[in-house]
Amino acid sequence: MGCVSSKIPDIVGEGYHLKVKKTVAVGGSAKIMEVDPGGGKKTMIVKKMVAFTKREEKRVKLEAALYEKLKNNEFVITMIAHIVEENVTHYFLFDRYSMNFSEYLEKMKEEKIIVNELKHLQFFCGIVSAIEELNGYGYAHLDIKPANILKTGDTIKLIDFGSATK
Ligand SMILES: Nc1ncnc2c1ncn2[C@@H]1O[C@H](COP(=O)(O)OP(=O)(O)OP(=O)(O)O)[C@@H](O)[C@H]1O
Ligand SMILES: [Mg+2]
Repeated sequence: MGCVSSKIPDIVGEGYHLKVKKTVAVGGSAKIMEVDPGGGKKTMIVKKMVAFTKREEKRVKLEAALYEKLKNNEFVITMIAHIVEENVTHYFLFDRYSMNFSEYLEKMKEEKIIVNELKHLQFFCGIVSAIEELNGYGYAHLDIKPANILKTGDTIKLIDFGSATK
């Protein structure tokens, strides 16, 4: 009997060699994985999407194009690299954030932490500024929700432009 390897292949391209450590979320059209970039660097996140049809390909390419357009907005996550394998599998590379805003709100509730209104107003204004810039290019995000906002300390970033449309 042949030897069947269950090893997950590394993701290679755009100058990166990423070792997949674990899956952190499985969404409607994507798999979110924690990856090790090597060289003792911090773990990062890869959003994997497979585009078999022209329609899926168009959607993935639009998501990548919007990260590119918004790369200077401090309230939008920076797409560090876009690796494409055999024209169908797309990997978006990002820094890893501690939690999403929905998890943060849950934690605040569980630990009975009182909301710092000023800080939350600043978060809100940040997200509004990201949406304003996106709308300025003629696009709507269409999936604004706490799970699509990431947080590390006082830094927040809007993510997931996979539902965006003209
Ligand atoms: N850079 C990141 N750092 C930490 N967690 C992340 C990161 N990117 C995504 N996640 C986690 O993965 C979840 C899903 O990510 P994303 O919204 O991009 O995928 P999706 O498949 O489009 O999701 P859905 O269909 O559920 O909206 C986020 O809510 C967040 O918890
Ligand atoms: Mg999402």
